[in-house]
Amino acid sequence: MRKKALTAEVAARLLRSAKTAMKNAHAPYSKFRVGAAILLSNGKIFSGCNVENASYGMTNCAERTAIFSAVAQLGPKIEIRAVAVVNDQGVPCSPCGACRQVIYEFGPDATVFFHGAEGPKRAHITELLPEGFRLQ
Ligand code: THU
Repeated sequence: MRKKALTAEVAARLLRSAKTAMKNAHAPYSKFRVGAAILLSNGKIFSGCNVENASYGMTNCAERTAIFSAVAQLGPKIEIRAVAVVNDQGVPCSPCGACRQVIYEFGPDATVFFHGAEGPKRAHITELLPEGFRLQ
C-alpha cells in the first residue's frame, strides 16, 4: 500500500502534539524541556517529554518516552512514519544518538522534523543514523 504523504498539515499537527507534551517535561537539572510526537502508519499519534532524574544517567529523552508509550499501548508491531521534536528554548535540537537508534528500530523509513542549525528541518532517519543496527 502506498504511504500517505506527510503534508504540512500533518507535520504541524505533530509539532503541536510535541509542544503540548513538552509542558509536562521533568527537567529540573538541565532546565531544557523537550517534547516529541510520533506519527504511526495507522495514523495514531503518541507524544512524550524528557524525564530527568537526580541520578542523571537515568534520564529518558522525549523521543524515547513517546516511542515507549506507543509500544506500551499498542505492542511492538508499530511502524513510525514521522517524529517531531521541539524544545522550550528555540535552539537546534536533533534526536540524540540513542534516540536515533530507537527511532530506527520502529521506523526505518521515518521522517524526522526538528530544529536544525539553520532552522526547521526534516530528515530521513537514515540520514541521521547511517547504517543503523538491526538484528533481523
Ligand atoms: N533531550 C531530549 O529529550 N531529546 C533530545 O533530542 C535531546 C536531549 C533531553 C535530555 C535531557 O533531559 C535534556 O534534554 C538535556 O540534555
